[in-house]
Amino acid sequence: MTPEGLAARRAALRILDAVLRRGQTMDNAAQVARDLPPADAALASAIAGETLRRLPDLDALIDGATRQRLPDDSKARTVLRMALAQKIGLGTPDHALVATALPLVDGGPRRLVHGVLGTLLRKGLPSLDAPRLPADVEERWRAAWGEEVVLAARRAIAHRPLLDLSFADHAAESEFPEGVSLAPLHRRLDHHGAVTMLPGFGEGRWWVQDLAASLPARLVPASAGRVLDACAAPGGKTMQLAAAGHRVTALDRSESRLARLRDNLARTNLHAETVTADALDWSPGESFDALLLDAPCSATGTFRRHPEVLYRARASIIADSADLQSRLLERSADWLRPGGSLVYSVCSLEPEEGEQRIEAFLSARADFRIEPPPLLADGVTPHSGGWLRVLPGMLEAEGGLDGFFTVHLVRTA
Ligand SMILES: C[S@@+](CC[C@H](N)C(=O)[O-])C[C@H]1O[C@@H](n2cnc3c(N)ncnc32)[C@H](O)[C@@H]1O
Repeated sequence: MTPEGLAARRAALRILDAVLRRGQTMDNAAQVARDLPPADAALASAIAGETLRRLPDLDALIDGATRQRLPDDSKARTVLRMALAQKIGLGTPDHALVATALPLVDGGPRRLVHGVLGTLLRKGLPSLDAPRLPADVEERWRAAWGEEVVLAARRAIAHRPLLDLSFADHAAESEFPEGVSLAPLHRRLDHHGAVTMLPGFGEGRWWVQDLAASLPARLVPASAGRVLDACAAPGGKTMQLAAAGHRVTALDRSESRLARLRDNLARTNLHAETVTADALDWSPGESFDALLLDAPCSATGTFRRHPEVLYRARASIIADSADLQSRLLERSADWLRPGGSLVYSVCSLEPEEGEQRIEAFLSARADFRIEPPPLLADGVTPHSGGWLRVLPGMLEAEGGLDGFFTVHLVRTA
């Protein structure tokens, strides 16, 4: 008889393989579960996610329970990681863990897996509520931000973050009954289910956006007018800009992502002109009063929601991103009128993609200066360099934030 929940575990195994061996995003990898009933597909993603949140510590537990070292990419190791993650992260009962783990290694080292799992379950598992990050990431972040930030990141990765909503106007926000507001036009909810079930979704009263991701658009001066959102899709920041009354051009090179942006605008009843183009080839017919460049990046700041980014963002990916960011900055800067505002942002915790890009840009462009930001949310203090650097540990008691960098530059001449 097939144990209940085996299909979800099989799908989780394939998702982890796609993420860890083939470098796919969780969203893409999770497509393997699209034909399963929704509850099984959700369980497959939850198991894969809980596994990725604690991978180095799960591996240490496994290695401590067997003298026969299992290869990193072996199915047996992944099955054991998944079983331990289910126990620690999802509270799955032992009998269900064993019953769904063993069929996954049929034809493989089934006895070994059974033995390791039995040993670890008998000993009792640690709670792992501040699990280690991959060693190369910890090393990078320790060098860039210090030990406190690494420890805060460990605490942050253990849990799925709370849900942040952005509102188009104060009337929509005040009608929303739930949550805590940490900044104007923002509410934070302890909600982990489908967002489509929340009140006001169908009427487009709000959209999902981490509070940190809402900071860059808040830096665009209210008086700006014609604004180019140069890497716009799926449109969180475009909606903020349109809701603030700007005349927005939303550009992105990905047509499928722009289609999502158009859906978002239609749902929220907001307006922006959309352009499908590569910003490195495109030229506007006229100059803009403000430019928001939310550049493509390693996305390591989103590790709480997407723990797989920590396994994808190797040094070469960060270096390639930094190169693209510099080219996007250099090219788009000329589309601004003198006196106009350029807001640059990345959802990255790598200084190469944030501080260093802006330092390099400013050393090449004497016609730009930093405009220090106001206080946008309590606990998000501007850096003395004039930018906003959101790190793990900020607003931790309130549920934390994604890692982010954003800066407001003004074209002086
Ligand atoms: C960080 S995401 C933008 C998120 C968006 N600003 C939001 O708030 O929803 C970066 C976007 O840049 C786009 N992109 C990457 N390279 C580009 C290029 N050369 N020209 C235009 N868009 C590009 C990607 O397709 C992606 O949608």
